[in-house]
Amino acid sequence: MPIESHLTKIPPHLLTLLDYEREAKKHLPTSYWAYLQSGAMNEINLKRNLQQFADVNILPRVLNDLTHGNTHLEIFGQDYPHPIFLAPIGHQALFHPEAEQATALAAEVMQSNIILSTFTNTPLQALKKENPFKWFQLYWQGNREKSLQLIRLAEKHNYKAIVITVDAPHKGIRDTERQAQFDLPPNMYHPHTKAHLVAENLQPHQHPLFDGLMQLAPKWADIHWLVKQTKLPIVLKGIQHPADAKIALEQGIQGIIVSNHGGRVLDTTPTTLSSLKKIRQVVPHNYPLLLDGGIRRGTDVFKAIAFGANAVLIGRPYIYGLATAGALGVAHVIRTLKEEFEITMALAGTATLKDISSDYIA
Ligand code: FNR
Repeated sequence: MPIESHLTKIPPHLLTLLDYEREAKKHLPTSYWAYLQSGAMNEINLKRNLQQFADVNILPRVLNDLTHGNTHLEIFGQDYPHPIFLAPIGHQALFHPEAEQATALAAEVMQSNIILSTFTNTPLQALKKENPFKWFQLYWQGNREKSLQLIRLAEKHNYKAIVITVDAPHKGIRDTERQAQFDLPPNMYHPHTKAHLVAENLQPHQHPLFDGLMQLAPKWADIHWLVKQTKLPIVLKGIQHPADAKIALEQGIQGIIVSNHGGRVLDTTPTTLSSLKKIRQVVPHNYPLLLDGGIRRGTDVFKAIAFGANAVLIGRPYIYGLATAGALGVAHVIRTLKEEFEITMALAGTATLKDISSDYIA
């Protein structure tokens, strides 16, 4: 039976993304749950990602004519019926046996974008070639040649953009995850990369972090080089500083995801909404800016767009759907958020995404 027809039969305890969070916990081992939920250090950013949306008010307008309203948008020549995409999340076999295949199916049905992680357990070639709703997320592979190989594979298999994650050259210090003694299952299948990148041939006098992993991390010169190697749009994920946004723009980067990695890497950075607002001021008005971290309700999507985002990504929430009910759960999470967002737009007095602006925020 097609996934759409199942969606009408959702049980009443799964009405919101929060319901899915409660339900998913029951389906996962404690250490996997700790891996999914944890944030870096004191988890200030993890909490702020949620709190920032509660701290912003929507100032509605009434009696606007909203006939013919819609949530359509276009990015890189592709039409989307709504602005809710799926953030890259690695190792999805932890959460459901169908892993990224289930996520991709739901994304296709809901015409959302899957951004397939470098740490996928499903080969990028295994996702349906004709599905246009897929981008590939690249973690730098220590050198240009290996990184370009992955981009070539993504080009060949009809991925529509490359997202390079630049905010995690080292994993964050996540206490909750360490306390739960989380480790990836031994021999877990990662078709495109090793589970942990390690610097080889380090001399005793060299620093294991700065001469090791940081030497393997990408630099602006690598990004500059990479942009020239592919016709696919390149998006940088994890930009927070407006000065970095300016450099990205100068280097031909075609979009930015403003993100603190769901509060998982560096703790106590400014809120992503405040960074988004500053970055919007230094890029052209139609330059694609996306935001992730803490989106849980339709009102959050509205606020992100009012602060300057073209679209948003959700991370943990669709994994709650995946762990609860596979592809069906992911699709329902997207649909729930989309419907909440549409109703928010209607109640705030905005007919299209272009109408949503700082005028509607107080
Ligand atoms: C992530 N994130 C992430 N980002 C990325 O670029 N590549 C990756 O492989 C992963 N893997 C990953 C695993 C898990 C378990 C989590 C929770 C997150 C970060 C992710 O793309 C996104 O930025 C955040 O999840 C957004 O925050 P919310 O929606 O989870 O609050």
